[in-house]
Amino acid sequence: MAFKDEMTEDQVKDSIFTVIGAGFETTGTASAHCILFLAMHPDIQEKVYQEIMSVFPADDVEITYDSLSKLSYLENIMKESLRLGPTVHSIAREAMDNFEISPGQTIKRGSIFCINIYGLHHRKDLWGEDAELFNPDRFLPENFDGKHQYFIPFSIGRRNCLGYRYAYTSFKVMMVKLLKHFKFTTNLKLNEIKFNRQIALKLKGKHLVMIEKRH
Ligand code: HEM
Repeated sequence: MAFKDEMTEDQVKDSIFTVIGAGFETTGTASAHCILFLAMHPDIQEKVYQEIMSVFPADDVEITYDSLSKLSYLENIMKESLRLGPTVHSIAREAMDNFEISPGQTIKRGSIFCINIYGLHHRKDLWGEDAELFNPDRFLPENFDGKHQYFIPFSIGRRNCLGYRYAYTSFKVMMVKLLKHFKFTTNLKLNEIKFNRQIALKLKGKHLVMIEKRH
């Protein structure tokens, strides 16, 4: 939709619905997955708790963009969580031209095709034999080098997510607040859970997480 000088009331309404629709379910589901993965991995949860406490030792320390940028382990946890459980599990595109995706296999101009983000994020030939394990350290620069194009939870290119910076920032703020004050545990096991491909990627069954106040 192209806007002229001023937006009409309907255009403003449509834009608000787009941002809420695109940003609410995605961020909410991604945070729920992340908490579940951390509940399954107490050692990783403890390590990120220590990182958070080192940056925000007191309750009244102001959360700023700068201080959030110091939480590199938390950031890698968010990425690993979005790798294993990409909220937007697949996207569709129309080919603007013929292109060969592998020798002898061409997608023809005008075809609609689907990119399976979940599948890409779980491929053992790209991520290694431990692709099904939750390991935030795979996002350390020395391990992640050369893998950028295989990690696309926010899509890539011209129509990628408009809100990905906001998503990372709000996600971090939420995790700081939650992990600082609560400990999460679960009896669910990573190799037993299954996902449902609804509009967003949802857990089959319930997020059975126990919550304990830290102090
Ligand atoms: C974890 C959170 C999020 C994930 C995983 C995510 C993922 C994505 C993906 C994969 C797309 C491309 C969809 C497609 O091409 O069909 C997209 C588009 C979009 N996202 Fe997000 N998103 C998230 C949060 C947000 C937030 C917080 C906002 C707004 C504040 C937002 C706004 C948008 C908009 C407006 C588009 C459409 C862009 C366009 O078509 O040009 N997203 N998002």
